[in-house]
Parts: sequence; structure tokens; C-alpha cells
Amino acid sequence: QRLPALLRAMPKAELHIHIEGSLEPEMIFALAQRNGVQLPYASVEALRSAYAFTDLQSFLDIYYAGASVLLHEQDFYDMGRAYLARAAMDNVAHAELFFDPQTHTARGVAMETVVGGLHRACVEARAELGISSALILCFLRHLSEEDAFATLEQAQPYLDKIIGVGLDSSERGHPPEKFARVFARCRALGLHAVAHAGEEGPPAYIWSALDVLKAERIDHGVQAVHDALLMQRLARERIALTVCPLSNLKLRVFPSLAQHNLRQLLDAGLAATVNSDDPAYFGGYINENFTQVFAATGLTARHAYQLAWNSFEASFAPEADKRRWE
Ligand code: ADE
Ligand code: ZN
Repeated sequence: QRLPALLRAMPKAELHIHIEGSLEPEMIFALAQRNGVQLPYASVEALRSAYAFTDLQSFLDIYYAGASVLLHEQDFYDMGRAYLARAAMDNVAHAELFFDPQTHTARGVAMETVVGGLHRACVEARAELGISSALILCFLRHLSEEDAFATLEQAQPYLDKIIGVGLDSSERGHPPEKFARVFARCRALGLHAVAHAGEEGPPAYIWSALDVLKAERIDHGVQAVHDALLMQRLARERIALTVCPLSNLKLRVFPSLAQHNLRQLLDAGLAATVNSDDPAYFGGYINENFTQVFAATGLTARHAYQLAWNSFEASFAPEADKRRWE
């Protein structure tokens, strides 16, 4: 019982959390009511029972439907604030929140509404809960690069509230190369770059996330184990992988948690971290991800310290904060 207690109590950073994936069914229904949005589910229970996924796309369809209840600045604030309060309970000292603006701007919600609400949640959570946080704008890879450029244009006035950009949504058939130019523009603007790669997609997508997008971290990246040369590079360059065990389980990337390769990644010297991805959909926040994957794969206290240290080291927090946490 000492290991689960250590996992829960240790300070950690969460680097892979889609804020729209923190919307609990109860909040989806409350916001639908508040905003007069009609949902294709009769009740919280009916919605929750639809959370039976077979792959990434089957999840994304429900995830985008859930996000349709978000209309006003207050909605984005409430969502962000609820996640940060929950993360603080898991001893998350620092969180980097992904958000998907195109999911909202496509419904007529202004970029200012999205960023304004989330940023206010981050500022207030720091003052009231002592948790530090930052925002990473993700481009939806199933949409065009032109659409991504338009989204970057809309975000220009708010770049002081965003630390970086990411790439998410349907991976297969949408390689990183598709977004080479928009990522180059983002880097020139001084934004950090990360990308989902090697969740369901091949190791080649991890190579191009690094070489073409110049991603500083790889989100998921668990398919790297199928490419020995890539493993050596990730280890040598200390490129962090933001691994999400319960997500991988629920989206059937691994048939069981016992077969998850987190231990293999760590033992090969990779800077892996543990994260929740979309906790409202995958059955657990960050500590649940830690305790379940440790129990299933026999990881040790030594791995726990390594994972916590990796999470701060790989974060985009100011160096002074990192040194303090480590
Ligand atoms: N958007 C939200 N969660 C995601 C995931 N696990 N992979 C790709 N896109 C996502
Ligand atoms: Zn993700």
C-alpha cells in the first residue's frame, strides 16, 4: 500500500490533458440545460453508457458531440476551473492544457471566448489553489492546413496567453507533413511545438513530428517501440513522451493494461511521463492512471520518481519553477 500512497502524494506535472476531455457527463448536461442545447442522449446515464470505444475515431465522434454544449466564456472558465481543482487534488503542481479551438469556432464561438475563459481559469486557479498552468492550442489534423492557418490568424491577438501549439484528432491518414508550414510559422512566432504521434499511427509519424514539425515532445508515442533506431534517438535526445495509459486501454491501443509498454519505454531510457488525456471519458484522472498502470505492470518507486521528475523536466514552465519542483 506504500506505492499507491507515494504515487498519489508525489508532486507531478500533467502535460497531456485535452480540456474538452475533462467535461464530465454531469457538466455536459448542466451546460446543455444552461445554454438550451439539445443533446442526442436522454440522460447522464445514457451518455455515459455510450462511452464504449473501439478505437480513436469512435471516441472522437462522442468527444466532439460533448463539446457542443460550450458556448460562452463562463462555460470555458467553468470547465477549466473544474479540471484544475481536480488536478490539484491529485498533487499536480503544473498542468499544460490542450484545447481544440476549431471544435468551437466552427460552431460560431469566438476565439476570444475560448481563450478568455480558459485563461481566466488558469489565473484564478494559481491564486486560489496554488496550481500553475498554461495553454497549448491544438490544430485538428483531420482538417486542412489552410484551416489551421486561419485558426492561427484568429489566435494572433491572444498569443500572450498561449505557450505552444499541438496537433491532435484522427491520426491515421493525416501525417505531420500536412502541417509543416503552419508549424514553421508558429515556431517563428516563439511558440513551443508538440504533436500527437504514434498513438495509433506508425513510427514514421513520430520521425516526421520531430524532423518536419520540430516537435519538442511527442504525445503518446507508444508505437516507437517498433522502431529501434527511433528508440535510440528519443533516448539520446531526451524527447519526452506524454503517455496516457487508461486512454490507450480504452481506445484499444493495448489489449490490457498489463501489456502496456510504459515500463519498456522507461527501461530503454526514454523520458516518458504519465497523463490522463481525456479523463472524463477514459475513467480516471492522473493519479488513477499512475496507480492502475503501476499495479498492472509492476513498476517500482524508482520508476515513480523518474516519471515525476520527467514531467517537470519536459514541461514548458519557467526554469526557476522546474528547479523548485524537482
Ligand atoms: N483529442 C482528444 N484526445 C485525443 C487523443 N487521444 N488522440 C488524438 N486526438 C485527441
Ligand atoms: Zn491526446
